[in-house]
Amino acid sequence: MPRVLNKNGLIAVLDIGTSKTVCLIARPSGDDGFEPVAAGTVQSLGVDKSEIADLKDAVSTVMHAVAAAESETGERIDTVVASASVGTLTSSLINESVDLGGQETTEADMSLLIEKAQSKIPDNAGEILHCVPIDYAVDARHEIKNPLGLTGDKLSVVMHTIATPVYPVRDMNAVLDQCRLLCSKKVASPYAAGLCCLKPEEKNQGSVIVDLGAGTTGIGFFYNGQIVFCDKIPIGANRLTKDMVKQFEMSFADAERIKTLYGSALPSSTYEKTDISYPIIGDDSRINNVAVPQSEIVRIIEKRIEELFINIRTVLESRGFYDYCTNVVLTGGGSKLHGICEKAESVLERKVRIGSPVCWPERQNILKEAQYPFCATAIGLLDYTARRLLNSSYAREATIRSNNKIIRFFHWFLDNVK
Ligand SMILES: Nc1ncnc2c1ncn2[C@@H]1O[C@H](COP(=O)(O)OP(=O)(O)OP(=O)(O)O)[C@@H](O)[C@H]1O
Ligand SMILES: [Mg+2]
Repeated sequence: MPRVLNKNGLIAVLDIGTSKTVCLIARPSGDDGFEPVAAGTVQSLGVDKSEIADLKDAVSTVMHAVAAAESETGERIDTVVASASVGTLTSSLINESVDLGGQETTEADMSLLIEKAQSKIPDNAGEILHCVPIDYAVDARHEIKNPLGLTGDKLSVVMHTIATPVYPVRDMNAVLDQCRLLCSKKVASPYAAGLCCLKPEEKNQGSVIVDLGAGTTGIGFFYNGQIVFCDKIPIGANRLTKDMVKQFEMSFADAERIKTLYGSALPSSTYEKTDISYPIIGDDSRINNVAVPQSEIVRIIEKRIEELFINIRTVLESRGFYDYCTNVVLTGGGSKLHGICEKAESVLERKVRIGSPVCWPERQNILKEAQYPFCATAIGLLDYTARRLLNSSYAREATIRSNNKIIRFFHWFLDNVK
């Protein structure tokens, strides 16, 4: 893997989103911590549904975000950890084992096991972003902290792979190349968002992170401290804006403003009495103000948001994770929509809360971005870099936790779901 740290010892992360691009710079501290030192946030151009849609515009967007962060620190960066600019993610589980022959498990056994599991990934799987071992077992013993040194006949693993189509990743590489940035690791955005928005107990008990961005909605299911499922739905909060543009013939900018100021995912009788006015260009080329009841705007938004959560529930049910989900955490810019928690609760029939990045509350006054849901992915990238890329002991610990309930599920999953 290319180097993670910049030559000046700093970490830099990049989240190229459909509506905004964020570059954060941080200084590693302690074993797995860091101090955020600078942030650059710019409006994205050349990105659609989380993928690069115009190379030149995207290059200029990334350059501006990086330059904005660099100018805050006076330091230059040349290597980043980035969220993958992709519209789809594919999650798969692989089961593999090696013979121990009644001997102790060695490092070599563990390496062979992972190698064998990785060799099972089909050639046409696309670009592999992550291979996360989510359960190690020695014979029938599944609750093993660390199989190294344990004796048995068989060492096995369940490995979670997260993949994405190859071409969008190449487009992203082209953008980073032109920006003269080395990318040491690409991370699935719901993985990053979940790392920093879910509390440790939520990551253990079975929680879903829903990252409602502008162009896509990322879904990540965490169980036993690990990400065990990941997906993306090609609908984001921009769809609400586009619905309003179509329905009321308003400009995108007006629809965006009205959505954030007066939008809601829940109807209310008070909305019947309030009119929202906006300008349109009439047939005579003059600008006229027209008014629409707030209730009509809310009706359109509510319908689309309800559809989105039905979609999310269907994804979780069809992949077998719904029954294991105890709560749902919403993040991303779209999670700021009024009434969204209540709507999500009624469709998903689970506890729902809004998640802001929670890793470093003591730093929130230094880096104001840390408290905003729209920065969850970027902050999660810092968490991923500090804990999983720089701190190998955490990475190992994180890959070997397990528990019986989910193991039974994984094995059911491997037996029943292709
Ligand atoms: N108060 C609000 N009410 C409703 N929507 C909001 C509000 N604030 C922001 N949004 C929406 O959040 C979206 C931006 O979210 P975010 O910054 O997480 O997206 P992104 O990361 O750029 O996109 P993506 O992850 O899909 O590529 C926009 O559609 C914006 O309109
Ligand atoms: Mg995003």
